[in-house]
Amino acid sequence: MENLRINITKTFDFISERKVQEYKNEVASHLKALYEKTGRGNDYLGWVNLPSSIDDAQLADIEATAVGLRSKSDIVVVIGIGGSYLGARAVIDALSNSFDHLLTNRKNPVVVYAGQNINEDYTAELLDLLKDKSFSVIVISKSGTTTEPALAFRLLKDLLESKYSAEEAKARIVAITDANKGALRTLAGQKGYKTYVIPNDVGGRYSVLTPVGLLPIAVAGIDIRALVKGAHDMEKITALEAENSVAATYAAVRNELYKIGKGTEIMVNYQPKLHFVAEWWKQLYGESEGKENKGIFPAAVDFSTDLHSMGQYIQEGVRNIFETVLTVTNASREVFVPKDEADLDGLNFLVGKRVDYVNKMAELGTQLAHVDGGVPNIKIEIPELNAYYLGQLLYFFEIACGISGYILDVNPFDQPGVEAYKKNMFALLEKPGFEKETAAIKAKL
Ligand code: PA5
Repeated sequence: MENLRINITKTFDFISERKVQEYKNEVASHLKALYEKTGRGNDYLGWVNLPSSIDDAQLADIEATAVGLRSKSDIVVVIGIGGSYLGARAVIDALSNSFDHLLTNRKNPVVVYAGQNINEDYTAELLDLLKDKSFSVIVISKSGTTTEPALAFRLLKDLLESKYSAEEAKARIVAITDANKGALRTLAGQKGYKTYVIPNDVGGRYSVLTPVGLLPIAVAGIDIRALVKGAHDMEKITALEAENSVAATYAAVRNELYKIGKGTEIMVNYQPKLHFVAEWWKQLYGESEGKENKGIFPAAVDFSTDLHSMGQYIQEGVRNIFETVLTVTNASREVFVPKDEADLDGLNFLVGKRVDYVNKMAELGTQLAHVDGGVPNIKIEIPELNAYYLGQLLYFFEIACGISGYILDVNPFDQPGVEAYKKNMFALLEKPGFEKETAAIKAKL
């Protein structure tokens, strides 16, 4: 069977293959540190063996909870932010119909998201929508105190409790949080919600293969066993192939490009359903590597859409970028270009060709143009867009991120910088306990 592949030949106009090969010993030692939990951030390496350690009973329990929520809900609201949101959304968007929300005769509830922003219009419109709908809530917060999801949950809990009996409201809430501590754990205990644990040693952005990702994904009707199997196979491939694995190659080549001044990596897709995979990847790499005044800036574009907006910059702007193209070999559906007698658009030369063929030629043409324009190109290819290959892809990016962060010599598993905005926000909101910060920040305004 085919697996995820990487092609780095279109970087060799910029860096030498020999230089990439020279990372092998270093990569082997970083992989060893990840497996043996001896490197920086080693308290947060529970994700490394997650795919091989999830057992059948855990998956069956998640599936049963998903069936329960699906049976009683037209809408399931997934509340969470950052690592408690992006993994589920990445997989659900990638594997759902592009017009999912408009489909009638649905087998699955519509999944919507809350707690990933603090916008009042969004919140009011969501409350309007849910008022007359049968809905349930999955609330996900490892700390249990993150403002955005806490605020959204407070509002949706109120709505559920005013709409349904206390017993029914309880049955419509599932909380995913720390095993012991935090406000959400306490509340779940008091109210008797069904709960799942985010393991202590798994940080938010590495948590997609825990109930954080798996429960919402199962609610959306996606085969979580195939997802986990894909991730498990990639875990095995990485362990077996070590410094010659696809993850090792990706980590090495992007660090070598960084060394020659390519400080921005643009994740490119030619498949709009992958938009949120890139959003998930941005958090994974940005939060893992952007520290100590170092790190590749992760950006993303959807092509060919953004060729008509960002294409100019990528072709001719500051030459500090490289592209990583996420490509799907085989489209799932077939649409052929029809004949048009008048041929006013001049497209009859394509009659009988698949739309995917046109897309692939756009991809190839863009790759060649961008490489000619000074943009190195890495290609990551999965045979099909399905749960199995997404599982491979997620684990590939995670393990490559761990290796890459160690090559960069940062702790890829903390995020100290995320606290700065929170401190200012609490000071401005005059949160009790922040009196000194409030006085200091007001003096600056
Ligand atoms: O990766 C991370 O750790 C963060 O993105 C968190 O997941 C995010 O801030 C949400 O935190 P929490 O799950 O504690 O609400």
